[in-house]
Amino acid sequence: MQHIKQYIEQHKQRLLDELFDLLRFPSVSADPKYKPEVLKTADYVAKKLTEAGADKVEVCQTAGYPIVYGEKIIDPTKPTVLVYGHYDVQPPDPLELWKTPPFEPTVRDGKIYARGACDDKGQFYMHVKAFELMMQTNTLPCNIKFMIEGEEEVGSNNLGIFVKANKEKLKADVVLISDTSMISMENPSLETGLRGLSYLEVEVVGPNRDLHSGVYGGAVANPITILTKMIASMHDENNHITIPGFYDEVIALTEAERKELNAAPYNEAAYKTDLDVAELWGEKGYTTFERTGTRPTLEVNGIWGGYIGEGAKTVLPSKANAKISMRLVPNQGSAKITQLFTDHFKKIAPASVKVTVTPHHGGEPVVTPTDSIAYRAAQKAITEAFGKAPIPTRGGGSIPIVALFEAELGIKTVLMGFGLDSDALHSPNEKYDIFNYYKGIETIPLFHKYFAELSK
Ligand code: BES
Ligand code: MN
Ligand code: MN
Repeated sequence: MQHIKQYIEQHKQRLLDELFDLLRFPSVSADPKYKPEVLKTADYVAKKLTEAGADKVEVCQTAGYPIVYGEKIIDPTKPTVLVYGHYDVQPPDPLELWKTPPFEPTVRDGKIYARGACDDKGQFYMHVKAFELMMQTNTLPCNIKFMIEGEEEVGSNNLGIFVKANKEKLKADVVLISDTSMISMENPSLETGLRGLSYLEVEVVGPNRDLHSGVYGGAVANPITILTKMIASMHDENNHITIPGFYDEVIALTEAERKELNAAPYNEAAYKTDLDVAELWGEKGYTTFERTGTRPTLEVNGIWGGYIGEGAKTVLPSKANAKISMRLVPNQGSAKITQLFTDHFKKIAPASVKVTVTPHHGGEPVVTPTDSIAYRAAQKAITEAFGKAPIPTRGGGSIPIVALFEAELGIKTVLMGFGLDSDALHSPNEKYDIFNYYKGIETIPLFHKYFAELSK
């Protein structure tokens, strides 16, 4: 498709400059101190959608951060693609580990370094620019709707309400999302599933106040010791999770599915070198792809308690806390798993402590169809743009709203992500390859073209 390459070539610098402007907004949804900046980001996205040619652009208010909506209906009898993305980003901490500041995008070695470069500003903005390209070259072959939210990184609580209240407005034939990874640029892939999530916080309280660890130590349970023991007991020697009933609903993959998944290129030595670990860890009997894509997990995201200031303080702390998340796979339900965890955690707590479990957000796992028109359109688009057919993979991350689109709107999703797992999402020095950015802008119009053609 010559006009696509030509347009990108002609507007190369501007396409990049605009992304940089977007990346300069510190749109951190988790921390209220960024609120004015998050709101400005929504306005910027709305402005850019309007400039690109969208009609009915709205900054839709919610109880939290607004959802930016825009559409271009060329012909109601043609199919409609609903593009979803998120303009909010994860907190940049720890700041001191960034080589260049997180909100001052910098290019090194062909890669854009900035918080949100890959997750998800760099990726959703490709859709805005691909839309501009189709408008400018008169090649938009179907209707398009955009829904870009600002609370994905904190659980999309208000998007669910918005979706339920705007079913007519959001009517579409497919949801298209670029917020996932590919294996590598040489091995393009399409994610065909996402894990669900149960996220909660626990507190273990021992004595009613911090104690002198000499005066009382040895006679009173230390909540940190108790908490770490309880956490450690949640994996057995095979790294299976020990919560009763945890695996009951898990649908095992067929041998054929496992084979297909494991046929994807994987270099264990490179994987270990990248992370600087001598050995991998995981549930016995499963490969790395299976462990991250098809098996549920339990992780401690943070743990605190006692004295962590300078020097030493001899103290037997009154309490200890941890943030724990579980990744879920079909057919596990987030509410049920949260309940199983809570019951188990309370049951294994010794009488020397009191425990509380506070659920945070959750999300349901999904598998996306690989026999749909939209999936075939994505396959064709990637094959043409990359010169290689995409490999189907299962993603380890979560986009809880995908299950909701299916449940509330009855629309299936195509996960056409262009990031790499090594792009340091949620970590310091997050990056996105400039090559991937342009490649995405090139692939997206092809998706629309094939989706419209195959829908006829
Ligand atoms: N884009 C990610 C999810 C993702 C990344 C999926 C890479 C597949 C591959 C998304 O922004 C994200 O980080 N989701 C959160 C869940 C959310 C409820 C905070 C996650 O997966 O931890
Ligand atoms: Mn994301
Ligand atoms: Mn994220």
